[in-house]
Amino acid sequence: MTGQTNPNTRTSRKSIAGWDRAKHASEVRAWITAYDFAFARLAQSAGIDGILIGDSLGMTVQGERDTLRVSLDQMIYHTEMVARGAPLCLIMADLPFGSFESGPQQAFTSAAALMKAGADIIKLEGGAPMIETVAFLADRAIPICAHIGLTPQHVRQYGGFKRQGTTEAAAAKLIADADALISAGARMLLMEAIPSPLAAEITKRSPIPTIGIGAGPDTDAQILVLHDVLGLDAEYVPAFAKRYLDGARLITDAIGTYAEEIRNRVFPPRR
Ligand code: KIV
Repeated sequence: MTGQTNPNTRTSRKSIAGWDRAKHASEVRAWITAYDFAFARLAQSAGIDGILIGDSLGMTVQGERDTLRVSLDQMIYHTEMVARGAPLCLIMADLPFGSFESGPQQAFTSAAALMKAGADIIKLEGGAPMIETVAFLADRAIPICAHIGLTPQHVRQYGGFKRQGTTEAAAAKLIADADALISAGARMLLMEAIPSPLAAEITKRSPIPTIGIGAGPDTDAQILVLHDVLGLDAEYVPAFAKRYLDGARLITDAIGTYAEEIRNRVFPPRR
């Protein structure tokens, strides 16, 4: 079959150079977040190309209202589990709030710890203020994905999870930030919650792969949070996300049936 590959046997996704080639071949790639072994293994079996251990785990796993309390040790713990579950996927780990902002040396120590835990590439949030750090890490064998647009670690500064790049000046600033981060040595660019035409423009001028979330259809790859894809939160799904499963209902029903069978002495059967 020409032009088609079985996603479960693709090997190039483990190499970042393979992602560059995919961009230039206009092959769109699929990311998802995962936080543990079981879901990472399922994501790999489903043919996902890359898995992000996002600090969104502060909200999805820990039940916090934002990502700010996630620690580096917690990120290491979750990265180890995901890397074990999905050895064929590209593994990206987030530098959590407070683990990199005080300077390149702090960022290197934190990023190296995540690489030792199994990450192939490290994501950090921020535009222009991160340029020196990105250059320092790139020079020291740490592949970096720069996260721009809505950067959730700045939520208190924004006063909420707000779409970014919506004025002409803000859009121009994001384009300038993207150019500078790429020149500093970033290997990927993640853009969150920005207008589609802006994400398309940055993708067009970018020599490195872009990943979008709430940034329209024209980025080189897409990512969503696992819990949004599976509908694990019955009450909330971000406007830009898509639910592929009514997970909250299905799982609640299954656990409810199990509990009912115990109470009715249906389970376990007598052997
Ligand atoms: O932490 C995370 O899951 C993320 C995604 C929303 C891209 O940064």
